[in-house]
Amino acid sequence: MRYNFDAIIDRNHTLAAKTDMRMKYHVPEDALPMWVADMDFASPPAITDAIRNRLDHPIYGYTHLGDNGHEAAVQWMKTRHNWTIEPQWIVHAPGVVPALNCMVRAFLKPGEKVIIQQPVYPPFVSVATNNHFEYLNNELQEINGKYEMNLTDFEMKAADPATKLFILCNPHNPVGRVWSKETLLQIADICIRHQVLIVADEIHHDLVFKGNTHIPIASLSPEISQQTITCTAPSKTFNIAGLQAANIIIENADIRTAFVRELARTSLETPNVFAGIASEAAYREGAEWLDQALDYIEENKHYVMNYIQEKLPMLRVFDSEATYLLWIDFNKLELQPKRLTQFLNHEAKVWLNAGSTFGSSGNGFARMNIACPRSIVIEAMARIERAIRLS
Ligand SMILES: Cc1ncc(COP(=O)(O)O)c(C=O)c1O
Repeated sequence: MRYNFDAIIDRNHTLAAKTDMRMKYHVPEDALPMWVADMDFASPPAITDAIRNRLDHPIYGYTHLGDNGHEAAVQWMKTRHNWTIEPQWIVHAPGVVPALNCMVRAFLKPGEKVIIQQPVYPPFVSVATNNHFEYLNNELQEINGKYEMNLTDFEMKAADPATKLFILCNPHNPVGRVWSKETLLQIADICIRHQVLIVADEIHHDLVFKGNTHIPIASLSPEISQQTITCTAPSKTFNIAGLQAANIIIENADIRTAFVRELARTSLETPNVFAGIASEAAYREGAEWLDQALDYIEENKHYVMNYIQEKLPMLRVFDSEATYLLWIDFNKLELQPKRLTQFLNHEAKVWLNAGSTFGSSGNGFARMNIACPRSIVIEAMARIERAIRLS
């Protein structure tokens, strides 16, 4: 079956954060929403059918997950990521971010620190600071147009006796890297030597373009697996973030017990009624849809990259290996972060994420979500070009 990713589905007035939060952010009515990380594609029909089936039963009371969803996730990790896990390693959470908040509370004592790697998904900072922990930024370095980890600096930060936890983003949002086996082994080795717990946020793991392979860090050795918590979810992959289902995978039973205790303490362990149903349908029946979605997104990426190369040489876009998020450098326009946002929202009329929210090294950048129909991408690029010419 061919899925139609060209269809424009009007999300206005559905309470979608992407379209319906314009007022809050002072974004004009006619700016194209290409920011928050969900897709403008219909989810796989198997998910809609499974939800509809459950919806037809008119009682939406307290729910438990059962075993089927976990088994479907185990199969998915095996077939898609060549990673063998056990169903009992999986802990349900309503999202990766709530789970990260629980983790820092479960594993850090006052005064202890977290390593992150900016530019990175903004909640990594707030997960630390909301819970009164300090974060150390092991800044990614741009080398020959590619972001790389600075392992010397990482080791220094990991060696700080107060450092207890590292949040890895793989694939990395926003720079689109799929970290190599060598890099992952090196970083894991440092964490093991300095007893730093690895929290691998691998939520984008399924959104990897051809020629790249995502390697779950925990799959690299039993020793690494014992010191790693892996955060996954069907939410990015199948466009079901609003259903609030994440799978937190933890082999080490002591770590798992401590995490589950903290989830329970914050009453986050009960799933919503559609979470398990949607995840199971996604993992059992969503592979073909995903393959086609990825091909489509990759073509969108090529469109943007070619457009910038041919018509907008003052911009730079990073050739992402994964995710549907493009990291675009607008620094040559010489606009301060606030002014860049104003320029994009009000003059170009495209609503992107401000790069500055990913850390100060993101100043002058913006993140563009290209999980949308091609016609929107084409229109967005034309708008950006027009606004730059007029500026
Ligand atoms: C790296 C990363 N982690 C977590 C999330 C959000 O996870 P959740 O919606 O499950 O809390 C996102 C969403 O963009 C993300 O990019």
